[in-house]
Amino acid sequence: MVKQTTNGQKMSRMNLQLRKFIFPFFLIVFFISSSYINSTPIYSLKNSYSPAQKGISYGKNGMVTTQHFIATEVGEKILNKGGNAFDASIAIGFTLAVVLPRAGNIGGGGFMVMFHDETQKSYSIDYREKAPKLSNRDMYLKDDGSFNDQKLSTFGYLSSGVPGTVAGLWEVHQKFGSLPWEDLLEDAIHYAENGFQISPYMSNVLRTYHEKLSYFEETKKIFLADYPDFKNNLIQKDLANTLKTISTNGRDGFYKGAIAQKISSSMKKNGGLISLHDLSNYEAIWREPLKSDYRNLQIITMGPPSSGGVHIIQMLNVLENYDLSSFEHNSSKYINLLAETMKYAYADRSEYLGDPDFYDVPLSKLTSKSYANSISQNIQFGISVDSSDINPGMYIDNESSETTHFSVADKYGNVVSSTYTLNSTFGSGVVIEGTGILMNNEMDDFSSAPGIPNQFGLLGAKANEIAPYKRPLSSMTPTIVMKNNELFFTTGSPGGARIISAVLQSILNIVDFEMNLEEATYAKRIHHQWQPDILEVEFSIEDNLNKELSNIGYELKVSNPLTCIQTIMLKNGTFSGYGDFRRPDAFASGNIND
Ligand code: DON
Repeated sequence: MVKQTTNGQKMSRMNLQLRKFIFPFFLIVFFISSSYINSTPIYSLKNSYSPAQKGISYGKNGMVTTQHFIATEVGEKILNKGGNAFDASIAIGFTLAVVLPRAGNIGGGGFMVMFHDETQKSYSIDYREKAPKLSNRDMYLKDDGSFNDQKLSTFGYLSSGVPGTVAGLWEVHQKFGSLPWEDLLEDAIHYAENGFQISPYMSNVLRTYHEKLSYFEETKKIFLADYPDFKNNLIQKDLANTLKTISTNGRDGFYKGAIAQKISSSMKKNGGLISLHDLSNYEAIWREPLKSDYRNLQIITMGPPSSGGVHIIQMLNVLENYDLSSFEHNSSKYINLLAETMKYAYADRSEYLGDPDFYDVPLSKLTSKSYANSISQNIQFGISVDSSDINPGMYIDNESSETTHFSVADKYGNVVSSTYTLNSTFGSGVVIEGTGILMNNEMDDFSSAPGIPNQFGLLGAKANEIAPYKRPLSSMTPTIVMKNNELFFTTGSPGGARIISAVLQSILNIVDFEMNLEEATYAKRIHHQWQPDILEVEFSIEDNLNKELSNIGYELKVSNPLTCIQTIMLKNGTFSGYGDFRRPDAFASGNIND
């Protein structure tokens, strides 16, 4: 692809080739520096060998992309059995809980955005964790009102919200599933019971998180059994039994009975708050997805309690005022525009976003074209406005007031885009005794106190303060983009605060810069979240670009890649998929029969 740019320069294939070389090289250096020793044998499970994505995957009858190649294969298997995208997504959700324990889960929660072909309608389900009944606004503060900096919101029993994943997957099955529920848990149970081969990447992750995984005996027993020589095969017998109970008893297998008893008694014993009452009262909620248009496309995305969709729409509305295709991709002028746009969106996030069941989020204002126009009128090229001079909502009309993403598309026309999470890598670090359930630390996504950033540096206000039964604000942004009522592409990513900016750039790369999936994934991403007032760039950037951005006034920080875009596109009747190289086990595949 060759793109004309403002100053006559071209973004050439050569540039892309260079990146293709630099990025994997960076990853290799990263692995070596993290003391990964190549002692892990090559995968041998017949159906598990599939190292990082090599090129775009194509398929006529559907496409699956997940952050682990085994989960991708399970999704394909379900589609090949005649299941639909919803069935495949449920099976993937359970399988990732086994093969990607850093993020896949039944002890966490998430969001799913869907397009249902038969009704020609889009849907979204909120299966986000909820604050336990016994939680309260000041639970992470000391008696004098100052923040208790003991990691209580990020580590251990007190950091967990009531999990939503099982309820969410169950609801989706009740509404759209076509295969029996038990069939969708079969593979997850198989891999938990018989084990699966740990990939070099996962081995490296286990090493990196050794300290966190060692703290609680139950967690250590499962994930660090043979440390320092990792087992080749990770077996999770307790998790297999838990999944069997869920397979037999449906959602009640998790929220009532023996498993719920184990969760609540373990919480009680260790200072956690989740009770039997919290579990049996948990409900996933069908919510109207957010819809907007960008140029000639329809955007379908997740609304609150995720902030992702609101700010994707807000930023696209701002950027629609510019002819982006005439910009040089990732030039200082382009990055300047993105960064300024992001500052306004993240500033608004800090003030106006929270659980809509508790706080009246000004949705229509934040996503209105007129609000976006006033923001764009205040962006000036060549200037980085100091974040302290940007206040949330300053141009609102003042008359009144380690996550993972997977996507599936099937031959019937259904599309699923889901992001779910334990929050941090391996969540709270707690595995509930005798269940294999790794618990989330989603309580950290609430705002603990004004001015106290969460682990992603995000600030929050009243809208996102802790309250019993409330859902913490999220950045997860599962998104479907349609063209003339047909799938164009679907995308999403992990990465905390960076999810929103990564999804935005993946949309712009495809829509405005006409990149194919590989190019759109390889392109370097930038991130600005208003506070801290820092422009993050992935990997190193060229000296002259660095200088140009510094001259505009940005404080630059080069950061490790933290996002992992999973995208599926439909073009001329063929699906394409790409698993982001930034998390090497990610894999897209479309091996689906007629
Ligand atoms: O819901 C959120 O926004 C965060 N809990 C997501 C965490 C995340 O993406 C971590 N992954 N890398």
